[in-house]
Amino acid sequence: MSKRVLVTGGAGFIGSHLCERLLAAGHDVLCLDNFFTGRRENVARLLDSRAFELRRHDVVEPILLEVDQIYNLACPASPVHYQYNPVKTVKTNVVGTLNMLGLAKRVGARILQASTSEVYGDPEVHPQDETYWGRVNPIGIRSCYDEGKRVAETLMTDYHRQNHVDIRIARIFNTYGPRMLESDGRVVSNFVVQALRGEELTLYGDGAQTRSFCYVDDLVEGLMRLMNRDGTDGADVHRPVNLGNPEEFSIRELAEEVARQCGREVKIRYCPLPEDDPRQRRPDITRARNLLGWSPTIPLRDGLARTISDFAARIENP
Ligand SMILES: NC(=O)c1ccc[n+]([C@@H]2O[C@H](COP(=O)([O-])OP(=O)(O)OC[C@H]3O[C@@H](n4cnc5c(N)ncnc54)[C@H](O)[C@@H]3O)[C@@H](O)[C@H]2O)c1
Repeated sequence: MSKRVLVTGGAGFIGSHLCERLLAAGHDVLCLDNFFTGRRENVARLLDSRAFELRRHDVVEPILLEVDQIYNLACPASPVHYQYNPVKTVKTNVVGTLNMLGLAKRVGARILQASTSEVYGDPEVHPQDETYWGRVNPIGIRSCYDEGKRVAETLMTDYHRQNHVDIRIARIFNTYGPRMLESDGRVVSNFVVQALRGEELTLYGDGAQTRSFCYVDDLVEGLMRLMNRDGTDGADVHRPVNLGNPEEFSIRELAEEVARQCGREVKIRYCPLPEDDPRQRRPDITRARNLLGWSPTIPLRDGLARTISDFAARIENP
């Protein structure tokens, strides 16, 4: 059944892929974005569709709309961007989420919050399942994002308990793919851009720290399944769900694979590890498998190939 779906942050990396998939599924999509890290080009080819609408709007300001579902993705996701104006990052997560919850409550929409694995902080348990409460520094340079997202989860849960808003919370782990910003400082985009330019790959720490990398199409599939999973069978759909790829790679392995695919010798420059950088991060996705029948299908090798060809096209035709 066709729905009216709002995607905040819809001109960003994940949001633009989500808008595309929602349109393909026959929904009317309204994309709100303040274009801080999002770009019109990300959704340019959707503008021809009568079912798609793009509006410049900052979620920190209230808005009145009639929608059936809200995907609340608005928030810069990479440290360079969320640390650029940390107070704004907190406002986006807290005031922005409050505004979206107010809207959901008013119009009876179901709302999905894009949360993050960063709510686990530097975890003492590995891998992390959703029952783990996290180990987060409240006053560090990443706190505007980590704690902002934790408050957003609190707000979501309290609106559900207090006002019966129909909520979904996705704890998204590292996601990569076409349309990531070249300058976002995230490890995949850094390595791909450096390798394509024939530069040394910058590796923070000794490269033994591990991460899991989920291809964006897999992630979007998980988000849509979570949004559309109802709880009529008694399933607990309102608690957070990890979405990520449990396959773990060291940062050094990632560097080597990127270099191999770009046809380069690996030249690595070692730099000091930034403050509060977690050593390990890997999702336990048992809950997503059981609740949504979801697990990632695209191996890192294939996802990297698609990502590298997108970056190569952008670097050649800036
Ligand atoms: N990419 C990942 O690996 C990852 C991991 C965990 C969580 N997430 C979450 O997923 C969501 C999307 O991430 P992304 O990787 O696509 O990042 P992104 O920076 O590409 O997208 C965020 C979008 O939100 C917009 N935005 C930011 N502040 C806004 C505001 N106040 N009002 C309106 N729009 C605003 C930006 O312009 C951008 O289009 C974010 O909420 C992020 O925290 C992403």
